[in-house]
Amino acid sequence: MLYRTARVLEHVSLADRTFRVRLECPELAAAIRPGQFVMLRLPNTTDPLLGRPFALYDTVLDASGTPVAVEVVYLVVGKMTGRLAEVTAGESLQVWGPLGKPFLDVGTPDRVTLVAGGIGQTPFLAYTRELLGTRGFGGDPARPRTKSVTLYYGVRSAALAAGVDDFRAAGAAVHLASDDGSIGTKGFVTQLLESHGKVGPLVGCGPEPMLHALAKVAAKWDVPCQVSLETPMACGVGICFSCVAKVKTPDGDDYKRVCIDGPCFDAAKLVW
Ligand code: FES
Repeated sequence: MLYRTARVLEHVSLADRTFRVRLECPELAAAIRPGQFVMLRLPNTTDPLLGRPFALYDTVLDASGTPVAVEVVYLVVGKMTGRLAEVTAGESLQVWGPLGKPFLDVGTPDRVTLVAGGIGQTPFLAYTRELLGTRGFGGDPARPRTKSVTLYYGVRSAALAAGVDDFRAAGAAVHLASDDGSIGTKGFVTQLLESHGKVGPLVGCGPEPMLHALAKVAAKWDVPCQVSLETPMACGVGICFSCVAKVKTPDGDDYKRVCIDGPCFDAAKLVW
């Protein structure tokens, strides 16, 4: 794991209360893989004291193709993210990672379907590039794992839809749903997915009720489904046990730490 003080190269608004921050950190950008996350902490303050986890959104390459920066996208939801939103380019943040495990292997299907709710689209941009073979990550050579990637993305309203153009530019087909019908189809993203008919494998990230609904769809369709959990974390490195998820094992139910055993789990093995 790398621990660095990294310069903010860019900090831009993507949607309502939603920002993308780009951090200069070549070693981390070279090592991290889609599905993994980093912890960010504001330097020179004890309020808030702890860092917070953020999924890898993308890495940035220089003209020679060398990874030089990592990007995360976040929604302002409390004190830490509120303070983070005030940080400007040229300032620094403490960052450590890569943390957690990459997405589980989906094999080489013709199509992979990603299902996101809220701010749950953030782990999927780098993953789209990896799946379509437009970029290798963590030393992996870039090679296609699938022919097509479809993103189903549900938000409360149009103002919160963040990064849609990034996904389309990366080659994903995007279907949108919103609670109020202000963008895409009105209703839950899992309803939109179901209305388009059986697909798989499925990969989900978002609020737990959405992931539970997705797990039920996957079970009904009998297709593989993994979910990336957005569990609150204190340490991010397996020490504090603040992030446990209940899973089924051959010996009965057990608890796994999302930060080191996840954040991606087979949806059929989770106890919802
Ligand atoms: Fe501390 Fe997972 S966040 S054990």
